[in-house]
Amino acid sequence: MNFFLKIFKFLPPEFAHSASLNSLNLLHKSKLLFLFNNKIINKNEYTIFGMKFKNKLGTAAGLDKNGDYIDALGALGFGFLEVGTVTPKPQYGNPKPRIFRNYSENSIINRLGFNNKGIDYLVNNLKKRKYGGVVGVNIGANKSSKGIERINDYLLCIEKIHKFADYITINISSPNTPDLRDLHLKENLKNLIASVENKITKLNFKKPIFLKVSPDETDESIEMIIDLVKKSSITGVVATNTTIDKENLINKKLKKEDGGVSGQPLMDKSTNKISLIRSKCSDIPIIGVGGVMSKKDYLTKLSAGADLVQIYTGFIIKGPNLINQIVRD
Ligand SMILES: Cc1cc2nc3c(=O)[nH]c(=O)nc-3n(C[C@H](O)[C@H](O)[C@H](O)COP(=O)(O)O)c2cc1C
Repeated sequence: MNFFLKIFKFLPPEFAHSASLNSLNLLHKSKLLFLFNNKIINKNEYTIFGMKFKNKLGTAAGLDKNGDYIDALGALGFGFLEVGTVTPKPQYGNPKPRIFRNYSENSIINRLGFNNKGIDYLVNNLKKRKYGGVVGVNIGANKSSKGIERINDYLLCIEKIHKFADYITINISSPNTPDLRDLHLKENLKNLIASVENKITKLNFKKPIFLKVSPDETDESIEMIIDLVKKSSITGVVATNTTIDKENLINKKLKKEDGGVSGQPLMDKSTNKISLIRSKCSDIPIIGVGGVMSKKDYLTKLSAGADLVQIYTGFIIKGPNLINQIVRD
């Protein structure tokens, strides 16, 4: 697999992303994936928020936006997968180039802007999946939707996905859809939560719902959000999405690119938000994500208070071996 990683390094990032995941799919379908993947030995099974997990490491949203790679990613040994972000209508996203890899700093900057094939396409893939582990669906709003239409987009996604997702994540924290992060503001978030509660009551939806938050919110804002979540039907939080803060980056050229930073430079910032949330509420379920590049980072997220951990950039930069290193007992 390291051989492939080296080749993919020289390809344009988006092409490398789909080429590597398509190769993974092919290997999985030809039953050859085991050649590249050590057997993961774990005797434990964890029941968290009423769902059963073989291990606590999952994929973060964005890695498989359309659910095209569910069975192959599941076979690699992840304990759960979060697919999406999906929007009601398909959309192209921002103009290319929109992903920038920064290998020397174990980081990526992306400004994809929710490129995806739309909710109906994802539903179809969820129906076809053979992977028996937990699959959450991360939902968002189309770029063309404004004001109330934006809330309606989340409701439409919930309606279409609720029978096929094991949990749903409401993504209000992508920095690449203009004004989306305004949904962190108290009145906006209250409206969104009330509308979601109304919808899930009508649908009799009882599975967990998470809110994915930004690492760029102040501590006061995060405290306010946790307060609202505690009083609502929202189960827990995914902390965090990418940061727009490029202060920590060394590469001067990349510093100038718009978009969200993920990977190592995000580790401390997102872990601090997890610690803050846990300190404010001892029993709120937290999925911790941001900057996990090693088993040590993974354990740091758990010690900070995360119940489960997700990974994206570490998987892209270090490859599938990292999963084995992290989840092996
Ligand atoms: C290329 C790329 C695309 C992403 N797309 C999404 C997305 O569609 N929805 C979302 O909630 N997060 C998305 N993210 C953010 C990740 O889910 C994750 O929160 C963030 O990258 C921090 O984790 P990491 O440091 O392990 O990458 C994306 C990240 C990257 C690098």
